[in-house]
Amino acid sequence: MPIYLSSHHLKMDEEICFFKQDTLVIKAPKKTPLILRMVVLLFTMICGVYICLVCLKQINTHKKMIKFLNFKVINHDNESCHDPYLEQWEVPYVHYPKPQTFERNECACNPVRYFAILSMQRSGSGWFETLLNSHINLSSNGEIFSVEDRRRNVSSILKNMDKVYNLDWFSSASKNQCSAAVGFKWMLNQGLMENHEEIVKYFKKRGVSAIFLFRRNLLRRMISVLANSYDKDAKQLNGTHKSHVHSPLEAQILATYKPKLNAALLIPQLKQDEATAAKAMQYFKTTRHIVVYYEDVINNKTTLNEVQEFLRLPCRELKSRQVKIHTTPVSNQIQNWEDVQKTLQGTSYESFLADYEMSSAALL
Ligand SMILES: *[C@@H]1O[C@H](CO)[C@@H](O)[C@H](O)[C@H]1NC(C)=O
Ligand SMILES: *[C@@H]1O[C@H](CO)[C@@H](O)[C@H](O)[C@H]1NC(C)=O
Ligand SMILES: *[C@@H]1O[C@H](CO)[C@@H](O)[C@H](O)[C@H]1NC(C)=O
Ligand SMILES: *[C@@H]1O[C@H](CO)[C@@H](O)[C@H](O)[C@H]1NC(C)=O
Ligand SMILES: *[C@@H]1O[C@H](CO)[C@@H](O)[C@H](O)[C@H]1NC(C)=O
Repeated sequence: MPIYLSSHHLKMDEEICFFKQDTLVIKAPKKTPLILRMVVLLFTMICGVYICLVCLKQINTHKKMIKFLNFKVINHDNESCHDPYLEQWEVPYVHYPKPQTFERNECACNPVRYFAILSMQRSGSGWFETLLNSHINLSSNGEIFSVEDRRRNVSSILKNMDKVYNLDWFSSASKNQCSAAVGFKWMLNQGLMENHEEIVKYFKKRGVSAIFLFRRNLLRRMISVLANSYDKDAKQLNGTHKSHVHSPLEAQILATYKPKLNAALLIPQLKQDEATAAKAMQYFKTTRHIVVYYEDVINNKTTLNEVQEFLRLPCRELKSRQVKIHTTPVSNQIQNWEDVQKTLQGTSYESFLADYEMSSAALL
């Protein structure tokens, strides 16, 4: 995990997520013979001169570097915004968009990072996105490519992305002119895999970072997919279909439905899901990216900090009102549990049977 320390564009009360903790070990001096001390002194002097020489050399290269950086930064959207402290690798990922629909005013020179959450259905991406959107400087505009017309061809896909990254996309998540990270959520089966070459090219050209969000327990994902598609017709919550809920009661009602899995197709299906995720990571491996697992977001607080750090955002505690639907052991959620158990035991998917996710209380 790389640790970055350039916090120059953050305000006094804002913190970045990680600080390097240097520990200084000071040993108590001991009595040593005079000759030994002289030897040490001589050695120290030689070292000193050497360090001085090295420093002089570095100052020269540093000057060259700053020149180089200034040259690169000028390539950005607004020539009057530049940040001399920016690390070189970051330059392609820093943007100063100029929206057509509003003025960025006092935040015109606040840098903006572009991202896309790449995920699969029922992997917790809805919840993950509400968490991210609770950050005052982040706008994630939802599943913009769930609308088929927008992903009909590559030019339409690129045009819609341009609109998002220029801050001209409006959704309930769009924030004010002081957004520091802007993006959207994209399911792998929404034109992403088919058009991956053009999309990777676009990500690299425009400096878009990818956030992969996957669920480790693909059996639970499968249950969630089946339950969600059942509810589309059954509409268990007083005649309305809901994919995400905001109260434990609603969650409890939706969880009463137990799907029956086709045991014969179980392993091929899990293999296919696994392969799809691996293929997506393979396609996008040359873009700047991070891989996040739903289970880690639930169990490990540092995961969300890592995401904020990845987007170079001031670190905040992120919250969501969504409630998890399936909170009981997986054995309670499947009609034909014994078949499923028998099928998966002794395979590499065996761990999916035992796995326990945390209760809804942790997600409130
Ligand atoms: C660039 O930033 C400056 C300073 O904030 C602002 O006044 C100006 O309008 C911006 N220009 C463009 C082209 O965005
Ligand atoms: C791409 O799709 C959009 C939206 O469906 C359509 O308006 C446009 O004509 C299409 N462009 C090409 C080049 O096919
Ligand atoms: C975050 O948003 C606040 C309020 O709009 C703004 O004052 C601040 O400059 C923004 N921070 C960054 C890093 O853009
Ligand atoms: C369904 O409707 C009834 C009557 O209006 C209400 O009491 C109940 O809380 C509702 N249930 C849910 C899950 O919204
Ligand atoms: C949480 O995640 C961090 C970073 O990935 C890792 O170093 C740490 O061991 C994890 N903690 C637990 C309790 O799993």
